[in-house]
Amino acid sequence: MKYTLIIPAAGQGKRMGAGKNKLFLEMDGKPVIVHTLQQFDMDEQCEKVVLVINMEEKEIFQMYLSTYGIKKHVEYIPGGQERQESVYNGVKHLQDAEYVVVHDGARPFVEKEVTHRVVGASMLTGAAICAVPVKDTIKRVVNEVVQDTVERSSLWSVQTPQAFRLSLLKKAHEYAIREAFVGTDDASLVERLGDKVQVVMGDYYNIKVTTPEDLLISESFLKRK
Ligand code: CTP
Ligand code: MG
Repeated sequence: MKYTLIIPAAGQGKRMGAGKNKLFLEMDGKPVIVHTLQQFDMDEQCEKVVLVINMEEKEIFQMYLSTYGIKKHVEYIPGGQERQESVYNGVKHLQDAEYVVVHDGARPFVEKEVTHRVVGASMLTGAAICAVPVKDTIKRVVNEVVQDTVERSSLWSVQTPQAFRLSLLKKAHEYAIREAFVGTDDASLVERLGDKVQVVMGDYYNIKVTTPEDLLISESFLKRK
């Protein structure tokens, strides 16, 4: 179950408010993006990495990859305005891959067991994601007034990695562009095609480093390791 990895890393980290790409922030003395890449560097199933970046930051990424001795073959591709566009730039760049995994650069706690579970499931359906059951009660709110409480047992928090047959992911992105649809993950584009997306169990530790408190949570996760 070999796969090619696309890592969208071209964001600005606005919600983190650090004044720079949050992937360069250090956790335990090491940039977030290095934590993420090292998780895949240890996975023999990962054939190559397509790192989608803001080209103005290319030298910073290259410096980190060499400093921390990332061994995988990494190709740099320019990102776009939205995450979706960044992933599509990575997808367009690939020709020979059969299965691709899309994983956010901002999720440094990904474990290869989860990745393999997702890839394995995608080989049966064409598309698979990992997710965890929602712990909070979720309500739909409009103008600060509750509309309804969504039944929790069917709610899952979706994460990356997400795995796809490359041809399906490409078709889904092209359809989204034609329909001017912008989704917050890649699976939502496949859903719009009407194709089945398999869900496998994710990991509560696999958080996305998004806002400042996530850095504190991350530090405590690293202590546990
Ligand atoms: N990303 C990307 N291209 C974009 C936007 C996001 O490649 N145009 C990447 C980010 O670098 C990140 C992942 O997609 O690894 C998930 O996005 P998110 O957590 O939203 O990161 P940012 O967009 O950087 O953060 P924010 O939305 O707070 O600005
Ligand atoms: Mg974003």
